Amino acid sequence: MSDYARRLNLIDLNDYPVSWWNGLLELAHEILSAPQDYAKACDGCIMGTLFYEPSTRTQMSFQTAMLRLGGTIIGFDNPATSSVAKGENLKDTTKIVSGYADIMVMRHPVEGSAKAAALTAECPIINAGDGGHLHPTQTLTDLLTLKEEKGSLENLTIGFCGDLKNGRTVHSLIKAMSCYKGSRFVLISTPDLGLPAYMKDMLAADGLSYKEVSRLEDAIGELDVLYMTRIQQERFASEEEYLAQKGAYILDKEKMKLAKPDMIVLHPLPRVDEIAIEVDDDPRAMYFRQARYGMFVRMALILTVLHKNGTPPALIRGREHKSVKCSNPRCITHREQYLPHFFEGSGDILTCEYCDQRTLI
Ligand code: NCD
Repeated sequence: MSDYARRLNLIDLNDYPVSWWNGLLELAHEILSAPQDYAKACDGCIMGTLFYEPSTRTQMSFQTAMLRLGGTIIGFDNPATSSVAKGENLKDTTKIVSGYADIMVMRHPVEGSAKAAALTAECPIINAGDGGHLHPTQTLTDLLTLKEEKGSLENLTIGFCGDLKNGRTVHSLIKAMSCYKGSRFVLISTPDLGLPAYMKDMLAADGLSYKEVSRLEDAIGELDVLYMTRIQQERFASEEEYLAQKGAYILDKEKMKLAKPDMIVLHPLPRVDEIAIEVDDDPRAMYFRQARYGMFVRMALILTVLHKNGTPPALIRGREHKSVKCSNPRCITHREQYLPHFFEGSGDILTCEYCDQRTLI
């Protein structure tokens, strides 16, 4: 067994059974009820945080989570001040830092980078966002918020509004909620910012119910949860393309009047202009509380990974296809040439193990 097969990495939540996530949510609930009981739980442990992309909540909530567990932190939040600026590749940076730390949290702009780092790292890797691909710890944050505020993760109608194409938090949460009974998805976006085809195919293959609408007003009345998202400016090819989408959806008091009295509004934050400030005082606005839940669920995650609670999932499920290149230009395999080209599946369509995009051969 290779080394990486022994570690509880968190690359994609769906690598684990739902029972494992539910265990994390229960532990997070215990921690938030009595945080002082966990103040020394990670005494002597070191967490490395490598943030190649800007972050406020994810980085700081991970850092405070470790500090509140009695551990310490190292890392960078600006690759320009690390050896990355000298041209160091992902493998070398992550291999070295993972040799100093007991657990490493990484955010990177390129899709599939977390799995790439996990292949050669010396300690467990937590994916804190890999380009427009996934953001599993935001999903844990969202799940904990839903469980604590709605009481159950079943039979929820969730509306996702905004940039469903590039929003990694949307992709991760849809994948996760697909595993809970009775989930219904309402996808609210412009035609240019719709959910990627591979995700829609996944929903269809799982027999899940979803519908697409372009106006928030047409859908808000039927939702239990409204998940607002920012238009992801940094993922657009040009300023013009971004400006064409900017301001497409703005949740304000008027639209909130059309919503159910117990609908809740989530947002991974940061917000730009998609939720008017006037909505903040509405008791259904849950996004600030959601950010605080994130700290508790990250405490639960760090504890679980460091104390090795759970069976490590397979990091690579398919096999290497030396001559096939991933069709996704934003995949890490195009950036880091040394990476083996791992794909799942057989026949004409292969699925990239790093970024989940399909390639026709
Ligand atoms: C999100 C992210 O980085 O993907 N933010 C976060 O982690 N809380 C959402 C976003 O940047 O829009």
